[in-house]
Amino acid sequence: MMRTASRLLAAAAATALLPAAVTASNWDDQPVNPAEHADDVTVAYEDGGRYYNEEDLLTYNVAEDGTVDWLTFSGFRRYHSECHVCHGPDGEGSSYAPKIKNSAVHMGYYDFYDVVVNGRQNGNSVMPHFGDNPNVMCYLDDIYVYLKARGMDAVPRGRPAKKEAKSDVIREDEDACMG
Ligand code: HEC
Repeated sequence: MMRTASRLLAAAAATALLPAAVTASNWDDQPVNPAEHADDVTVAYEDGGRYYNEEDLLTYNVAEDGTVDWLTFSGFRRYHSECHVCHGPDGEGSSYAPKIKNSAVHMGYYDFYDVVVNGRQNGNSVMPHFGDNPNVMCYLDDIYVYLKARGMDAVPRGRPAKKEAKSDVIREDEDACMG
């Protein structure tokens, strides 16, 4: 509780420092054409409830009836507790932080991770670093997969209605990560 509250305060303080004039960034200049990225997200195989593309990078899986994989569902929740205060609901962006549903598609897994772990600063525009925050780091795969699904328009805005069960492997990894 305390930690959440203090993080929110920190986020609020950080955003309060940003003068309105900084909002002119071209965050909307990165539209996604899903057809161009289809190979990136095509599921090659599933392993322990996680889905991977041909390059062994994580991707989402949406069944025909709309059931999403566990990471996508979990990522929805984690995103909305850790990132949406700046990046807006559903990864849609805000006047001071980019539309990261599109960033997840354009940046790819490693660059996305790098920014979240280390943070980034561009004048007054500050992305905090989360490398020492287990509530983010233990769920960063989930957040990435969720945002990728959003950027590709594979899932609609809002809470996914149907989800796969959490696998034993994912549960064990989560316990190990959170300590
Ligand atoms: C305190 C506000 C704030 C919070 C909280 C925040 N971000 Fe950011 N983020 C920013 C800002 C501002 C930028 C743009 C930084 C710049 O101008 O280089 C950014 C940039 C990014 C980028 C780079 C996007 C691109 O297209 O280059 C990624 C990826 C990102 N954030 C992911 C996340 C994730 C994931 C979370 C939640 C774990 C998160 N951010 C939480 C403010 C925030």
